[in-house]
Amino acid sequence: MPKLETLLARNLGCSRGEARGLLARDASGLPHEVLPGALPLCLTIAGRRINIHGSFHLLLHKPAGCVTALSDSRHLAAASYVAGAPLAAELRPIGRLDLDTTGLLLWTTDGAWLHRLTHPRGALPRGYHAVLARPYQPLPADLVLRDGHRPRVVDLRPLAPHEAHPALPRPEGAAVFAAITIAGGAYHEVRRIFAALGSHVLALCRVSFGALTLPTDLAAGSWRPITKAEVEPPTAR
Ligand code: URA
Repeated sequence: MPKLETLLARNLGCSRGEARGLLARDASGLPHEVLPGALPLCLTIAGRRINIHGSFHLLLHKPAGCVTALSDSRHLAAASYVAGAPLAAELRPIGRLDLDTTGLLLWTTDGAWLHRLTHPRGALPRGYHAVLARPYQPLPADLVLRDGHRPRVVDLRPLAPHEAHPALPRPEGAAVFAAITIAGGAYHEVRRIFAALGSHVLALCRVSFGALTLPTDLAAGSWRPITKAEVEPPTAR
């Protein structure tokens, strides 16, 4: 059973000694340990209302121009957008989006869940909307990329511009739009698939991951908490 001082330190991003000091100032009979089933929990400690989480998962609307990293010397790191979230120091991105790809980027503190969702065997479908420089060729039955990788394309279809997600950037002269769903997340996979089909990706936005879709009203750079069941509904497991 986790100790309250450990949970407090994790949630406040402070040392266990500092958390112990805070608890020592409070004489209101706080529990020494917390049952995992009782989390999240809101406690008043030393006059402060504090939400205590055991784990946390969120969906970030990643803007273009930031890298999927905790820190980076050249570019803005996507972690800076989730710095104010609960357990921020423990949050890790589930997979990666390229510097200029926008859209749905999941973060979690649960290492086992992250590992399962990013492992090729357990790969959930990920949906993307793309703007292309020119039309693409039909998808062959057995597409093999230059490095020998065989992408698992679940769906590929043309998209009318008005159907494209508002988070998809629209470069000047954007004319060809497509929706693609792949199971897996190899390096630059969508860009490499369209290159293999004779086209070129001008802009890319991830619109779904498993059962979860990017809300149209979530501003770029904003996040919202999610549950695991929103990504993997119990019936789909
Ligand atoms: N595929 C890509 O090519 N880029 C991304 O950012 C995500 C998937």
